[in-house]
Amino acid sequence: MENGGLVGFLDSGVGGTSVLALAERLLPGQPFLYLGDQKNNPYGEKGEQDIRRLVFEGLEHLLDCGAKALVLACNTATACAVDQARQRLPVPIIGMEPAIRPARQLAGDKPIAVLATPATLSLPRFDKLLAENGGQAYRVPCPGLVRMVEGGAQQGEMAQYVAGRLADCVPSGVVPGALVLGCTHFCFAREAISQAAPGVPLVDGNAGTVRQLARVLQKNGLLGKGGQTRVESTGDLAQERQLADMLARARRSLARPR
Ligand code: DGL
Repeated sequence: MENGGLVGFLDSGVGGTSVLALAERLLPGQPFLYLGDQKNNPYGEKGEQDIRRLVFEGLEHLLDCGAKALVLACNTATACAVDQARQRLPVPIIGMEPAIRPARQLAGDKPIAVLATPATLSLPRFDKLLAENGGQAYRVPCPGLVRMVEGGAQQGEMAQYVAGRLADCVPSGVVPGALVLGCTHFCFAREAISQAAPGVPLVDGNAGTVRQLARVLQKNGLLGKGGQTRVESTGDLAQERQLADMLARARRSLARPR
């Protein structure tokens, strides 16, 4: 395998495979190594220091495997560790943040709602992001949804959970103009989220992240070719297989006409 431009992806589990599938499309032939930290999933209910330590462990492993650029395919990991990782690690690092700006543009004068992990929504970085974009936004922490996606729950069960969280966090009678999927795991619960909020557009940050990755690789002469994608889990073999299955599912969903 040509290893010159190996790009390492990190998430706490299956969520980031939705970003990886899009990266494969935009950068065909680029070698990728995906690490799902399933032994320590979920991140979003842990403290900031613990998350940062786990993220560094994952990123260092990817560097040891030859990564020349790193993608934090996880909003929670980005919120806790991207600044420190950029200071300390010797390669370009691409992070992910909830896609507030495109959601605001879609929503016009209406408020938006941001579904993410408790950690992402409670860190100062998120307050700053909201302040920069103005307008009203409701925070909808959905820790249970990460567990459900990771555990392979059905869309119906997830829809019920999301409806409950929206009812708890958005005043009754308010219909948001857009919902932000501020956690990569939620890309695998799109159907459920649409059932819980019919007709409300869903916005994720995947395309923006992959475009940024392409720009960074190009700028740093790191575009690789002739490579393949490999997935690794810190969990057991069944979890590693689940990563590969979810990546295959994400690829199929991108291949479907929209
Ligand atoms: N996929 C991650 C994110 O984008 C976090 C999931 C977790 O809580 O581990 O925020």
